[in-house]
Amino acid sequence: PRKIKVLVLPGDNCGPEVVNEGVKVLKAISNIRKKCNGVEIELQEEKIGGCAIDATGKPLPEVTLSAAKEADAILLGAVGGPQWPKQIDSNDASKGLGPRPEQGLLDIRKSLDLFANLRPCSFASDSLIAYSPLKESVVKGTDFTIVRELVGGIYFGERHEQDESGKEVKRVTRLAAHLALEKNPIATIHSLDKANVLATSRLWRRVVTETLEKEFPKVPFKHHYIDAAAMFLVKSPTILNGIVLTENLFGDILSDEASIIPGSLGLLPSASLNGLPDGKNKCIGIYEPIHGSAPDIAGKGIVNPIATILSVALMLKYSLNLPREAKAVEDAVRKVLDDEEFGGFSYRTKDLSGDKTTVEVGDKVCEVLEGYLE
Ligand code: NAD
Ligand code: IPM
Ligand code: MN
Repeated sequence: PRKIKVLVLPGDNCGPEVVNEGVKVLKAISNIRKKCNGVEIELQEEKIGGCAIDATGKPLPEVTLSAAKEADAILLGAVGGPQWPKQIDSNDASKGLGPRPEQGLLDIRKSLDLFANLRPCSFASDSLIAYSPLKESVVKGTDFTIVRELVGGIYFGERHEQDESGKEVKRVTRLAAHLALEKNPIATIHSLDKANVLATSRLWRRVVTETLEKEFPKVPFKHHYIDAAAMFLVKSPTILNGIVLTENLFGDILSDEASIIPGSLGLLPSASLNGLPDGKNKCIGIYEPIHGSAPDIAGKGIVNPIATILSVALMLKYSLNLPREAKAVEDAVRKVLDDEEFGGFSYRTKDLSGDKTTVEVGDKVCEVLEGYLE
């Protein structure tokens, strides 16, 4: 069988709980595929974030980074939490403060040059529409993917328009255009910025426009200001259907907001990639839920594992070249969330008004998935 290496980085607080469910899904696929001589998934676990600080003094130990470079893909939970309150300034060694857990995540993204963070937002199951805090008439039909630039912006130090070559903007724009062209009909790119105030945004807008006009004349695109887009996202989110392309900080904020459309932060997955997911190049990726370590509910067995399980589906599609298995995972999630499927006995965690535990939801997804794959 083809051997695939997946590095597992559970991280802190609820990280291990949700990653455990993602790992169950990977193991279920590996067990079934191994039998028919298809693929075998090998798992290795390392530390990142606060747990790594506690064990080694560093949020991203060398062993973790070198294992990441060797892996075909990485499954990550979340890092950080109130247990690490003193690490306030990431680099202020003079005050005796070490780096924060979150710095480990920023460093691994930067070291692997994962410049594009894909955060799809649609309804994993139509039955979820009823659980959105927003009206059904507003959210129905929402289907966009946020493409967030991940290794630049204010996260990695201030820049000025004149210093910038625009290379970072160009490569993420190309990736967004590639995703738009995959859709039938070709999706619209909605580029979000603050070009009326920020010099960096004026550079962003210019490079997005030039790249799309020159290289992707078939891809329709629109520019929006980020503040108005944040309003439209809850007023009429289907306006943004297609690809939402934006810089690091705007994409971070907008994606948490977007999770309220399908109903919970515990639903949205993400893929952080270092190249076009076109199957031609080996694409390294970190796959993780968009949510954080949820310290307020960690350890109670009520964290929603769906965002992590859907991140595994993205991994199967973009890094492991197993599109059929990716679709099977998405189908299994849809069925498990569906109210009608099990005689009104649906499998949802508390954030979606359900009464099932993290483990029960994960088990049910695996059970349904095995039926689809065998
Ligand atoms: P958070 O995303 O952890 O939680 C925000 C709220 O959403 C909380 O009420 C939480 O209980 C809820 N929530 C989150 N995930 C959920 C899930 N799967 N199921 C049900 N409810 C869920 O954000 P926060 O509380 O602001 O941050 C906590 C820590 O996580 C901080 O240290 C932050 O820096 C870190 N963080 C890490 C990542 C990451 O590792 N990628 C992402 C965001 C935040
Ligand atoms: C995310 C998180 C991270 C980010 C933090 C923890 C560094 O909020 O993945 O959305 O801001 O990118
Ligand atoms: Mn975030």
